[in-house]
Amino acid sequence: MLGLRLYMAQRLSAMVMGPLVLGHLAVMVYAIQGGLSSAEILARTQGSVAWFLFYGGFVLAVSIHAAIGLRVILHETTGLRGLALELFTWVMGLGLLIMGARAVAAVTVL
Ligand code: HEM
Repeated sequence: MLGLRLYMAQRLSAMVMGPLVLGHLAVMVYAIQGGLSSAEILARTQGSVAWFLFYGGFVLAVSIHAAIGLRVILHETTGLRGLALELFTWVMGLGLLIMGARAVAAVTVL
């Protein structure tokens, strides 16, 4: 059943994002000590498979999570359903994924 699969995907993506947020905050606190420069950030992220997986996983989880969450809210507030709701979900999810992937590529790919 689609509803159950979406429900599971949204909660699983939330579980993935929880620890990633904590990791992100920890790195931010560490990274801003002694000032923050783009050169310093890029030295850490460029060419790093680990940071590619970290931020890439983050973007993937957010894209899935936000698209499903907004789909539920749109359906509940406007009653939208069927193909229009499917299209909204995919445009939102793929749009976030593409924008996020571009940002991840910009800081991790050499
Ligand atoms: C670290 C980041 C995040 C975590 C840990 C998180 C966690 C959660 C959890 C646990 C729920 C389920 C609540 C329930 O059981 O009803 C939820 C719902 C929701 N989340 Fe997130 N979330 C995060 C980021 C985001 C982002 C960036 C968006 C962007 C739009 C978003 C949009 C939503 C929406 C719209 C719902 C409501 C879905 C519904 O009413 O069924 N979340 N979130």
